[in-house]
Amino acid sequence: MTAPVQTPQPFPTRIFSGIQPSGGLTLGNYLGALKRFVEKQDEGIETIYCLVDMHAITVWQDPVKLRQQTREAAAAFLAAGIDPARSILFNQSQVTAHVELGWIFNCVARMGWMGRMTQWKDKAGKNAEAASLGLFAYPALMAADILAYKATHVPVGEDQKQHLELTRDIAIKFNNDYGVTFFPLTEPVIEGAATRVMSLRDGSKKMSKSDPSDQSRINLTDDADTIAAKIRKARTDPDPLPDSLAGLKDRPEARNLVNIYAALAGHTPEQVVADFAGAQFGTFKPALADLAVAKLAPITAEMNRLMQDPAEIDRILGEGAARAEAIARPILDQVYDIVGMIRSRRG
Ligand code: AMP
Ligand code: TRP
Repeated sequence: MTAPVQTPQPFPTRIFSGIQPSGGLTLGNYLGALKRFVEKQDEGIETIYCLVDMHAITVWQDPVKLRQQTREAAAAFLAAGIDPARSILFNQSQVTAHVELGWIFNCVARMGWMGRMTQWKDKAGKNAEAASLGLFAYPALMAADILAYKATHVPVGEDQKQHLELTRDIAIKFNNDYGVTFFPLTEPVIEGAATRVMSLRDGSKKMSKSDPSDQSRINLTDDADTIAAKIRKARTDPDPLPDSLAGLKDRPEARNLVNIYAALAGHTPEQVVADFAGAQFGTFKPALADLAVAKLAPITAEMNRLMQDPAEIDRILGEGAARAEAIARPILDQVYDIVGMIRSRRG
């Protein structure tokens, strides 16, 4: 179902992506990111996945919860099908190349570029003066995450498109400023039926782990009854489902549920409306709830099992970090050389 990844550049295909361990993962993270991370791994491409704990602390994180959420996110990756023998899975702070390259990119990127980022504007809100400096510089660290591995493709949800354009701008400026062809122009990979899963309470807002209403999202830790209840109570309109996608044009909540069904079932949204044409939500919602439970319950159960052994999760993250470091360190050494830093320390 997914388009083959192509690299129109002299850089070997390598996939990198990251998720912030700043709360429990949602169905949006699963469909927009995790499920697709597994598909890329299973296509046999080199895949590097990172729990970006340094990004998470750009807004306040309770230390005890941060550690717990990082392990839980790792468990979600493993439960969803990430195989640490085939993919590299680690947490960002264990590989210091990210922040080192992030600093260099802070000096490449311009204030104006950062100020235009919609995620910055949304998260800083009206009180930008009180936001952390790290939140403003966040996209430069994200570019460093990707380019420390010279990654060519980054699977993400729709909301990360602007950050990936900025990653390309940083690569272009670095290459131009230093007269090198060092960094690739990384491509976003935004595909599938659920690149933007919306809130169950408001079809104009994305489903988010930071939404104050727990009813707005499905968490990967929700049990079957909770998932079914949240879908039953999801906001919809009174009309039955149409027989074509055009009929969902001004019905964002209905469209969202159709997209979720399609992504979970591995069908296109067109197929879903064809199958349910004329059905009331009283019929469609229970079908969606059954499907969601069937797909998510095994993942939740496996996450719970993995969480019984935190030391094993930490071991997997540590091993992934060592493998990540082995790729990033030689690239970073070359960057220091290009930039003109003396590197004469022994030992
Ligand atoms: P975050 O939770 O912001 O760290 O996002 C991690 C990944 O999940 C990114 O690739 C996001 O684009 C993706 N993602 C987050 N929320 C959604 C959503 N509601 N729909 C689709 N993708 C999402
Ligand atoms: N900014 C991403 C998000 O909020 C998380 C992220 C950090 C990321 N570094 C990345 C995603 C590198 C892809 C590649 O969802």
